[in-house]
Amino acid sequence: MKIFLVGFMGCGKSTKAKQLANLLACPVIDIDAIIVEQQGMSIADYFAANGEAAFRKLENEVLKSFDYPETCVVATGGGLPCYFDNMQWMNENGVTVYLEMTPPQLVSRLHNREKRPLLKGMDDEQLLAFIINKLEERNQFYNQAKVTVNSFDLDPKDLLEEIKQTKA
Ligand code: S3P
Repeated sequence: MKIFLVGFMGCGKSTKAKQLANLLACPVIDIDAIIVEQQGMSIADYFAANGEAAFRKLENEVLKSFDYPETCVVATGGGLPCYFDNMQWMNENGVTVYLEMTPPQLVSRLHNREKRPLLKGMDDEQLLAFIINKLEERNQFYNQAKVTVNSFDLDPKDLLEEIKQTKA
């Protein structure tokens, strides 16, 4: 089983991916981390040097060309499901899981905004407005996930049960 975790920045995709991979004793794959490694620079530096359109193309290429093990947990970048046919591709190749959080929950978790190019320099109020607006745009993609859970305070064992039930 390949599990693709999707959701907004700060919803805990990387942490939950590691926890699920631990429970399943399988590898965890982080698309942003692969890009950082391949390009030899941070996501923020990549955005600054090449722009967002180049980044979207690159994440699409990495998503589709990676040689995934049979069982693995994949953490995707917050925007990845919303470009090209990425969401459809993930649905065809694994179980997609939307880690949902309310906008105030996301604000409370997004402290390190400087490393996220889309959030640079925002205060809490600006960030809340940005999230509400972006979620309106992105939810149509996130909502195509097979499983949706509110991931605030979510026990990874409960999450795994939910995923297994959906798969069955
Ligand atoms: C982005 C989310 C980031 C990263 C990039 C763009 C987005 O990943 O891919 O900064 O558009 O939401 P995380 O969701 O892991 O922060």
